[in-house]
Amino acid sequence: MTLEKLQTILVPQIEDALKEFIQTIDFRSSVELGHMLRYHMGWEDNLPAKASKGKRLRPLIVLLTTGAFGDYPTKAMAAAVAVELLHNFTLIHDDIEDQSPMRHSRPTLWHRYGTAQAINAGDALFSIAQLSMLDLAKTCNQYVVLDATRAFNEMCLHLTQGQSLDISFETRPDVTVEAYKDMIAGKTAALIAYTSGLGALISGQTATEYQKLSEFGRCLGLAFQIQDDILGIWGNPKLTGKSAASDILTRKKTLPNLFGLAQCSEFRVFWEKEALSQDEVNQMAELLEQCGVREQVESEAGSLTEQAFNTLECVFPKPNEYSEALFELTQLLLNRKA
Ligand code: IPE
Ligand code: IPE
Ligand code: MG
Ligand code: MG
Repeated sequence: MTLEKLQTILVPQIEDALKEFIQTIDFRSSVELGHMLRYHMGWEDNLPAKASKGKRLRPLIVLLTTGAFGDYPTKAMAAAVAVELLHNFTLIHDDIEDQSPMRHSRPTLWHRYGTAQAINAGDALFSIAQLSMLDLAKTCNQYVVLDATRAFNEMCLHLTQGQSLDISFETRPDVTVEAYKDMIAGKTAALIAYTSGLGALISGQTATEYQKLSEFGRCLGLAFQIQDDILGIWGNPKLTGKSAASDILTRKKTLPNLFGLAQCSEFRVFWEKEALSQDEVNQMAELLEQCGVREQVESEAGSLTEQAFNTLECVFPKPNEYSEALFELTQLLLNRKA
């Protein structure tokens, strides 16, 4: 209940702040670039009714962690805007790298405008995100801005390393579960860890509190990606807004597929085939369930969520409205369908 109430208040504020910040950028000499950014963010007029936007999860975490430390949440708004823009930059480039045609129930940016211009739009969002982070100087002192900006760039580097590993795994035959975990620690958990730590930084907590909150975000981010892997095989495209072409068809080295390759010989035989029909993909998903892989992967996500809870409990032994909302959000993400 607490989360729902805070979401109703904070998410529209985040949306307005995102729009307001993009409006400060002068696109008069590059009108198409401005259109592309508005299309990607879900703000273009005439989008089909079923098209959706992102969940705005990361900026919500920034505001909730700031509030949980007793500061006013919108003190962190410039940083919240920065992480959402950065996240969207990664989505634009990720869809090019993965050749994904659909996101948010509509064509991806590269699919609609071509790869070259989508790369430019992603680059623009990356720079705009940096500019928003500097606006933190309006509510925080210069040392906080400097620390947040340095950590932001370190996180971007870690994220890119994760994305690079992910792509390299496509052609590597020997990917271990340990290597997979290192990869998702970069591509997904680095940003969620950073996002969580920001609240501690902005509200002037000690380095210990900052590290604990980042650790909470790291565990949450790992669980979030494992859930994304589950949805990448068993998710409903109507709810995920992504293409039905599953991670089995594209033979991504996600956790369910790695477990299947290690534990299920029938699955391995299909995997080695040159081309897979939709019927074979369905059979492989079924095999993963029969071999207990789905259960195993769900339990991995469950124990990482448990670790996230424990860390959060250490930081907020006496819960408040905002920390309670963080607990609720953590639980909700484990069972998410989108
Ligand atoms: C998608 O993240 C990319 C991953 C890290 C799996 P989200 O599911 O948070 O993306 P949106 O912004 O809500 O679409
Ligand atoms: C998630 O990548 C991480 C980033 C976008 C940086 P994925 O490729 O696993 O996520 P989806 O399924 O396309 O959102
Ligand atoms: Mg992708
Ligand atoms: Mg990817």
